[in-house]
Amino acid sequence: MSAIFDSRIIEQWKARGQDHLFDYWDERAPEMKQALLDDLQTLENDVYELLRQQLKQQLDDKGQRHIEPIAHIPEREWRGDARARAMGEDLLAAGKVAFLTVAGGQGSRLGFEGPKGCFPISPIREATLFQILAEKILAARNRLNRPLFWYIMTSDMNFEETRRFLESNGYFGLREQEVSFFTQGLFPSLSAQGQLLLAEDGRLFQNPNGHGGTIAALRDSGCIDHMRENGVEELFFFQVDNPLVRIPDYPFLGGHVQRGSQMSTKVVEKAYPEEKLGVIGYVNGKPGVIEYSDISEKNQKARDDRGNLLYSHGSIAVHIFNVDFLDSHSGRLPLHVARKQIQSWKPEPGGGVVQQREAVKFEMFIFDALADAENPLFFETTREEEFAPLKNKTGPDSIDTCRQGMINLYARWLEANGVTVPMRDGKPVHRIEISPTFAWDAQSLRESLKQRRSTTVNRIDEDILLT
Ligand code: UTP
Repeated sequence: MSAIFDSRIIEQWKARGQDHLFDYWDERAPEMKQALLDDLQTLENDVYELLRQQLKQQLDDKGQRHIEPIAHIPEREWRGDARARAMGEDLLAAGKVAFLTVAGGQGSRLGFEGPKGCFPISPIREATLFQILAEKILAARNRLNRPLFWYIMTSDMNFEETRRFLESNGYFGLREQEVSFFTQGLFPSLSAQGQLLLAEDGRLFQNPNGHGGTIAALRDSGCIDHMRENGVEELFFFQVDNPLVRIPDYPFLGGHVQRGSQMSTKVVEKAYPEEKLGVIGYVNGKPGVIEYSDISEKNQKARDDRGNLLYSHGSIAVHIFNVDFLDSHSGRLPLHVARKQIQSWKPEPGGGVVQQREAVKFEMFIFDALADAENPLFFETTREEEFAPLKNKTGPDSIDTCRQGMINLYARWLEANGVTVPMRDGKPVHRIEISPTFAWDAQSLRESLKQRRSTTVNRIDEDILLT
């Protein structure tokens, strides 16, 4: 870039009250200066203005929203629907469905070095989240005997490590051309006064723009074109941190298409009113998800005439999107704001100092796309069967609960096949692991066990790995 161009960028940002970014400018290394100028140049003006507006609004009125209850489809009405099941299977067999995993988050609560998908989670093999998800797709691919596409969203921060991890593990049996990586956008964090901040390396302090960044990133990266070229019509979306996700779910897929929905979401019943689960409802008249931090205590506990919670069901972040819908969407979703402590760099004479300070982080959430979809639907499912997220090191949604969720599910599959599973305090005494390529539900377990008569299991008296 030319010096004139550089000074124009500097003048532009100074005119917006961001002089502090250029303090002691002449003392910085040329590469450091260039990197900051590159960041500023790619930061779209209207995005910066939107962030500032959002910040002001949040500080002024805390974003009051009017909410009302919304209906869901009870599991008994769709899970056993034979026509929907057949339709879902046909869609997959015809190559009309692809898979998408969002893995661009920072996993700060887990505090694991590296992408969360590389966390070893399975009870015995210690297979990583990525391995388990890949094996689920592999199992479906082997069953249908056709290639299936898997798109993985990363952020700039973990793209290389994620790509290398899957590549060096041979994509866990999938073919290289079936797996695509793409990166989501970034949003700068701001100070409470709306100022841009610097990171330790002198660049802008930015964070991935939330899983809501998926829509724009899919389009910008060419993934939507790739889907179209390959006849993909529906996209099955799930997060990297839920190893229980049911892949594929034929009646869910079939039900979504049969009922003419552009976006369908799985929901589970809340375990108790205060549970930290985003609940579904109308938000200012449009279908959506209300985060647990945004719902008042009164609404959290409100009940109907029959004593049922008004806001009884929450999203487990498993969605199906119609590809035409994604393609026609602007990619812009509402901004959500969170305060957090960050390490920010402050230029000073002879160098600079890194200081801890409060910053405001902005993100977009994918479930806000429900408001833009035609006929969005909420499919109820059973939590224990398909939701055990890995969020924290300890406590709820932690390494232990996630692993236990896997063991409990495999134990139920074994019991459904007449195997005795000794229990203590409501949990299986021994560790159990069933790899997704061995079985993906109780029925397929029956078939796999039959095929391997030599390893007949009647009772679990020690740790068992079926693979
Ligand atoms: P979470 O909101 O739980 O965030 O993401 P996280 O990054 O995993 O963990 P914390 O909050 O920092 O502790 C839910 C899913 O959305 C993805 C994550 O990778 C995870 O699969 N995600 C989140 C993105 O892909 N991009 C983002 O910007 C944020």
